[in-house]
Amino acid sequence: MAIGIQTAAYLFASILFILSLGSLSSQESAKRGVFYGIIGMAIAIIATVLGEGVAGQVYILVAIAIASVIGLMLARKVEMTSMPQLVAILHSFVGLAAVLVGFGSYMDPHTQSLQGAAHSIHLVEVFIGIFIGAITFTGSIIAWGKLEGKVRSKALMYPGRHAVNIILLLVCIVLGVLFAQQEGTGGLLYLYIMTAIASFIGVMLVMAIGGGDMPVVVSMLNSYSGWAASAAGFMLGNDLLIVTGALVGSSGAILSIHMCHAMNRSFFSVILGGFGNAPKGEAKAIEGEVTSLNHEEVAALLKEAKSIVIVPGYGMAVAKAQYPIYDMVQTLQKAGKKVRFAIHPVAGRLPGHMNVLLAEANVPYDIVLEMDEINEDMPNTDVVMVIGANDVVNPSAQDDPASSIYGMPVIEVWKAEKVIIMKRSMSAGYSGEDNPLFYKPNSEMLYGDAKVSVEKILGYLKA
Ligand code: TAP
Repeated sequence: MAIGIQTAAYLFASILFILSLGSLSSQESAKRGVFYGIIGMAIAIIATVLGEGVAGQVYILVAIAIASVIGLMLARKVEMTSMPQLVAILHSFVGLAAVLVGFGSYMDPHTQSLQGAAHSIHLVEVFIGIFIGAITFTGSIIAWGKLEGKVRSKALMYPGRHAVNIILLLVCIVLGVLFAQQEGTGGLLYLYIMTAIASFIGVMLVMAIGGGDMPVVVSMLNSYSGWAASAAGFMLGNDLLIVTGALVGSSGAILSIHMCHAMNRSFFSVILGGFGNAPKGEAKAIEGEVTSLNHEEVAALLKEAKSIVIVPGYGMAVAKAQYPIYDMVQTLQKAGKKVRFAIHPVAGRLPGHMNVLLAEANVPYDIVLEMDEINEDMPNTDVVMVIGANDVVNPSAQDDPASSIYGMPVIEVWKAEKVIIMKRSMSAGYSGEDNPLFYKPNSEMLYGDAKVSVEKILGYLKA
């Protein structure tokens, strides 16, 4: 394929990627956005594989075919609740690819023959590309482990860790200067040491983030993976990879800033591994007693209530309870009740997780309210049903500085007249923090799987 045609194809693919990102910003146009992305990526792959100077297309096609089969199998198998883990592990691949491209590009005889400024710029690209790639690689693996429950979700904080990170960063800068002074492939040792240090920094940065802040980490690693891809684009001299990486990098950074805003967290504190975010003092002792109701009693409460708010969380996704919940809502609406959903921005395990599930069950958007919209109405609410949510309704976020989620805005369900918490046990939410809500005098537990419980309540409501 001639260079001119390839450039035109790259430009067209870039436009499709931008349209794709733009369309993904609203539910109505999201499907179209995915379609633009698929077409753009297909054009990008074809233009690259058929580009000038690319040999061994057969091997590339075989590799693409094998990877596509694996990708298809994974995508079919993965549960909606495991999506963040999948995203995290895919980010790690981008990081690893940037590291491999960096080493390959450094040892490539063609780039070895570069002279003067072009040579120096290439060395800087290689060094920075491998640095970002290694952090993204190990950071994403730890994020995957935390989301999958293989690594404990609580923040690992040891004294002096920020000083250690800064010293390691300075060591990497010194290694970079030494690396740039070497002839031929003489800088390989410096690259190896820097890769090991950057990998360690990646692990420590994500280990230091508590469970409650993981949404920001995942979107931040998404951003890092974009910058790693962009760096790989510079090393390979591929304009499209530079543009695509920059799009992913900047959109991930914007999403991280929005999520930090929603969670009342400092963006820099989170990207620096929880800098200045250590919990203060001893955890507050929880007072009160836990009481519980059965399904029939909950149905009786709902029959008496006029205004009902449902707060769904990760447990609703696990139980796939959204369908019977909407059945229950319709039954209550027919009985003249005002029923609304309250959605916390980080409920579940994905940005917009609850909105997607409720849309799947055909819940109309006008009864689905954001946290800020519903909080002021809580004191006028008769019954709140917390279905599989925990951290997003934890009052410690407001009144216990020792809690790792302190400062995060939460749905103030305890201000309603009655709160029913539907979950299987007394166990903690994703952040690992106990929830004093369960002990409040106006709270009642309803134990059991969310779907089974809602179906039983629905049975009593219809009876
Ligand atoms: P969580 O705090 O994780 O609590 C979910 C609760 O659901 C658990 O306490 C669990 O209690 C219950 N549960 C699990 N399976 C259930 C089932 N089958 N039936 C009924 N209940 C079930 O969820 P949340 O309130 O939605 O908060 C989300 C948390 O995840 C936040 O800490 C957030 O920062 C973090 N996070 C969010 C994201 C995004 S982007 N949304 C990404 C990563 C992490 P039992 O075991 O007792 O049933």
